[in-house]
Amino acid sequence: MQIISAPTEMQAFADDARRTGPTIAFIPTMGFLHEGHLSLVREGCRHGDDIVVSIFVNPAQFGPGEDLDTYPRALEADCEKAAAAGATVVFAPSREDLYGDAYQTYVTLEKLPQHLCGLSRPVFFRGVATVVTKLFNIVKPHVAVFGEKDYQQLLVVRRMVQDLNFNIRIIGGSIVREADGLAMSSRNSYLSPDERRRALCLFQSLQKAEEMVRSGVREAEALIQTARDIISRHPDADIDYIEIFDPETIDNLKRIEGPARMALAVKIGKTRLIDNILLTP
Ligand code: PAF
Repeated sequence: MQIISAPTEMQAFADDARRTGPTIAFIPTMGFLHEGHLSLVREGCRHGDDIVVSIFVNPAQFGPGEDLDTYPRALEADCEKAAAAGATVVFAPSREDLYGDAYQTYVTLEKLPQHLCGLSRPVFFRGVATVVTKLFNIVKPHVAVFGEKDYQQLLVVRRMVQDLNFNIRIIGGSIVREADGLAMSSRNSYLSPDERRRALCLFQSLQKAEEMVRSGVREAEALIQTARDIISRHPDADIDYIEIFDPETIDNLKRIEGPARMALAVKIGKTRLIDNILLTP
């Protein structure tokens, strides 16, 4: 597996691949790879010949007071894990490589960020759309894989790809969970053992909603209220949002008449966690 850090070298590699034929599958990450990321790499292997994993903690998607400085980093271990999962290239640029001193260009979407995570993290989707655009221009993939755990991010990327005419197929990878149901996330490493136990309330509330839908409940508010009750049993769980929405448009739903997504963001202590589930009546 090659490790490339210079954008120009990555571009030359991509140009060469595009000239000679291999399909490039791309998995963008911020590193500290876990089984969730690795499942995306394996998904990429099903769609491409050159499997490029980027590792870059993107400062543009962190707001003031967020965890940019403490975000976990483990480049060497990440390279080993990526290679074992089938990556053929790790692209790991530096901050200066992607955002020099005079940097001033950003990509913004008008509507999708005005929901869910975008409300409490106002610069997040601008940062994601900007860095993903830059990475697409550097890696030049045919296919890119994004996890469904960041469901709103997946929608943002799909919209952006359509709006900006990127000729890239976007694939959503399923959420990977720990044995007890906690959605895998690099930020789980922030949790103390006690918080780790309490963090399960996110998945438990989604599971309960799924169960209620299966038993015939259709009112979104009843599902949201039950989830709220489950989470509020934990005094240090601070709910940012719990919402049920149309999986394509992200518009809130009052009743579940077809497939719907239920998503939530909850702070357990200082750690903000997200999770979601597909509800099908
Ligand atoms: O999901 C992530 O890890 C990041 O938001 C991404 C897509 C790599 C952009 O920095």
